[in-house]
Amino acid sequence: MLETDGLLKEFGGLVATDDVDLSVESGERVSIIGPNGAGKSTLINLITRRLDPTDGDIRFKGESIVGLKPHQVVQRGVSKSFQTASIFPDLTVRENAEIAALAAEHGEFGLNFLTHRNDLSSVRELAEETLADVGLLDRADTEAVDLPYGDKRRLEIGIALAAEPDLLLMDEPTAGMSPEETQSTVDLIERVKAERGLTFVLVEHDMEIVFSISDRIVVLNRGRVIAEGTPDEIRGNPDVQEAYLGGVEL
Ligand SMILES: Nc1ncnc2c1ncn2[C@@H]1O[C@H](COP(=O)(O)OP(=O)(O)O)[C@@H](O)[C@H]1O
Ligand SMILES: [Mg+2]
Repeated sequence: MLETDGLLKEFGGLVATDDVDLSVESGERVSIIGPNGAGKSTLINLITRRLDPTDGDIRFKGESIVGLKPHQVVQRGVSKSFQTASIFPDLTVRENAEIAALAAEHGEFGLNFLTHRNDLSSVRELAEETLADVGLLDRADTEAVDLPYGDKRRLEIGIALAAEPDLLLMDEPTAGMSPEETQSTVDLIERVKAERGLTFVLVEHDMEIVFSISDRIVVLNRGRVIAEGTPDEIRGNPDVQEAYLGGVEL
C-alpha cells in the first residue's frame, strides 16, 4: 500500500530522515518509535506531502505521490489525524465531520460541492457514521471549541476517518491525554481497526500501546531505521534497547 524508497529530508545541514525505506502492506498496523528528534514526525509529514523530500520516492498503491499536493494525497486515500489544527472551533462537531467528508470528495476547501448537491446526503450519512465510530454522536451539536481535550483529539481522528482513508497516519494521538482519555483513544483505534480493517501508521511514545496495537514496529534513530520487526522481535532487540531506551528492559 505504501512504500518509501531512500527517503531523505534535510533541514539546512541537518538530516532529519536518512535513506528511509518503509513499506506498509494493506491491512497492516505499523508503529514508528524512536527518541525525540529521530525524524518520526518528519517522515509522517513527508508522506502527507506537508514537506518535500530532499531525495527519494514515496509510492502509494504503486504510484509516486511526491508530485502531489496534500489534499490530492487525501483524495487518493491517505489521511492524517492532525493535532487540533484540523478542527474548526466555531463549528459544531457534526459540521466538522461533514466538512472533512466533503473535502475528501471534492478537494480541500473546494466549493465545487455546490454542483454536486446529490452527494450531500451521503456526506451527512458518512459524517454521522464516523461520529458514532469515535463516540461523539451525542455531542454532534456541540461547538467544537467547547469539547474537553480528549474529545477534541477524538474529533481529529474522526475528521481523518471521515475522509474514508485507506491509510491513516497518526502522530502521537494520545499526547497530553489523561490515562482515561488515552484508554478511550486506544479503544477507539482498536475498534476502528476491527470494524474498518484500516491500515495505519502510528507514531506513539507509550510502549504499552505500541506493543499491544502493532503488527510491526519500525525503530528510527537519528533519521535512520535501526530495526524493524514484530513487537516480540523489537522487545528483544539489543540495538533497540541500547539506542532507544538506554538499556532499560522492555
Ligand atoms: N521544519 C523544520 N526545520 C528545521 N528542522 C526541523 C524541522 N522539523 C524538524 N526538524 C528537525 O529534524 C529532526 C527530526 O525532527 P522530528 O521529525 O520532529 O522528530 P520526532 O518527531 O522523531 O521527534 C529534529 O532534529 C528536528 O529538530
Ligand atoms: Mg514528533
